[in-house]
Amino acid sequence: MEARSIAIDGPSGAGKSTLARLAAKKLGMIYADTGALYRAVGLCALRRGVSSKDARSVSALLPEIELEMIYDGAGAQRMLLCGEDVTDEIRAPEASIYASDVSAFPEVRAFLLQTQRDMAARRDVIMDGRDIGTVVLPNAGVKIFLTAQPEIRARRRYDELVASGRDVTYADVLRDINYRDANDSSRASAPLRAAPDSIVFDTSAIGLEESFFRLLEIISERLCVKNDAAV
Ligand code: DC
Repeated sequence: MEARSIAIDGPSGAGKSTLARLAAKKLGMIYADTGALYRAVGLCALRRGVSSKDARSVSALLPEIELEMIYDGAGAQRMLLCGEDVTDEIRAPEASIYASDVSAFPEVRAFLLQTQRDMAARRDVIMDGRDIGTVVLPNAGVKIFLTAQPEIRARRRYDELVASGRDVTYADVLRDINYRDANDSSRASAPLRAAPDSIVFDTSAIGLEESFFRLLEIISERLCVKNDAAV
């Protein structure tokens, strides 16, 4: 049987990863966070002292970059960069900005495309990113564009970062979100867009539990799976 795939796209901080991870667990699918791949490329540039705006120098790093997404015993995704576990380091705000910058380069997008498709070819997957429904998996069984107002996304991301012990301000987080929204939507190569056949789902006014319930409703309507959500 062909592997099933669910594409969840949307701007930074819309709750894609939290909701996709929960849904994947519930539905017995794997969760693939494609942002981690762009973050790992960005981190590599950052560590090498290469400007994230310098397409030629970033592209020159690609042949040396080995990326692997593995899953630990609890099913959590770990990102390996040349064999080193960088799962935590790629979440730093500086790595986020680098990821957004390098993701604008067509060479970087081409470099990561097959990796993402291979992941979906092997197993049932819920994949989140910016161009999953439009470019990576245009035939995904369900496509969802998850969004929320920038201030709400910034507040959620700020709470997450503080909970993980990072020293950030809300103003900085909002500035980064606005920067990445502008970058991700305006780039020429695979910009952030809702696929025409996607369901746009705005979570600005609802919390995690209701968002999860509604997400499972959307998925079950399209994939014909049983919906008995409990976060
Ligand atoms: O989902 P995230 O915030 O971890 O993604 C980090 C950056 O990577 C984001 O600013 C845009 C880029 N990205 C992308 O261009 N395409 C994807 N499929 C996933 C992420």
